[in-house]
Amino acid sequence: MSDVYLNGEFLAADQAKVSVFDRGFLLGDGVYEVIPVYADKCFQLSGHLIRLQASLDGVRMKNPHTQNEWTALIEQLVERCGGGDQSVYLQVTRGVAPRDHVFPQNVEPTAFAMSSPLAPIPEKYKIQGAAAIILEDIRWQNCNIKAITLLPNSLLKQQALEAGALEALLIRDGYLTEGAASNAYVVLDGTIYTAPKDEKVLPGITREVVIEIALKNNMPLLEQAVTEQQLKQADEIWISSSTKEVVPITTLDNEAVGTGKPGGVWKEMDALYQQYKQKGAA
Ligand SMILES: Cc1ncc(COP(=O)(O)O)c(C=O)c1O
Repeated sequence: MSDVYLNGEFLAADQAKVSVFDRGFLLGDGVYEVIPVYADKCFQLSGHLIRLQASLDGVRMKNPHTQNEWTALIEQLVERCGGGDQSVYLQVTRGVAPRDHVFPQNVEPTAFAMSSPLAPIPEKYKIQGAAAIILEDIRWQNCNIKAITLLPNSLLKQQALEAGALEALLIRDGYLTEGAASNAYVVLDGTIYTAPKDEKVLPGITREVVIEIALKNNMPLLEQAVTEQQLKQADEIWISSSTKEVVPITTLDNEAVGTGKPGGVWKEMDALYQQYKQKGAA
């Protein structure tokens, strides 16, 4: 069994134990990160650690480690888990205390990390694309914080799965926010649209890479939310996340998106994204 990291120690996963009074367990009082590793090397690590700090600040929680400490322990974890392509999961909770909504005083946060093999992106997504359904965004008002309280996301994702879709695309106040576990993009007349960074969406690290690539390659991109109507008329729809990269959505609510095949703008973006990954831009 692979080792995990818990509060300063590396342990076999079945030896790692957390108290039933941990606020992550009782209240969902914690934040997390998921970081892809390619050929032993973390991709966009500094962006993930900066976002972890922002999530911790957003819930007024102490960071148990400096950036250098996180970097060193992640490197050690990846090595202990066999290297190669992995998916590193980090979680920080407010710690162990008698159950109370109010924050406990003088409690050390619980720091946890694990790593598992990174599943390759299914080839069928690149050839055929994937399906999505439209659902109402039932999440809270602080979606920019990567909180472990994922019950709404889980319900939405399950509904998508039961409808034969990969992802639920979420509508709040008539506008597309993002996916249940991804950022979303719409291509209309050659311009890529993605919702702006605010409390309605997670500031995705993959989204940052997509924007950087678009800017460098003169691909028109606007950080501007589209309406549900525009979403339904899109020439192309994509989703992105650290473990799925950029996936074309070719069916929306059982209707073809554009030609019903992965579009030309996605093809250009995916090729550039693969080059960016190869370069291992940190
Ligand atoms: C709600 C949500 N939005 C966006 C993303 C994409 O973020 P990233 O590219 O940092 O993985 C995720 C990733 O899990 C997510 O859960």
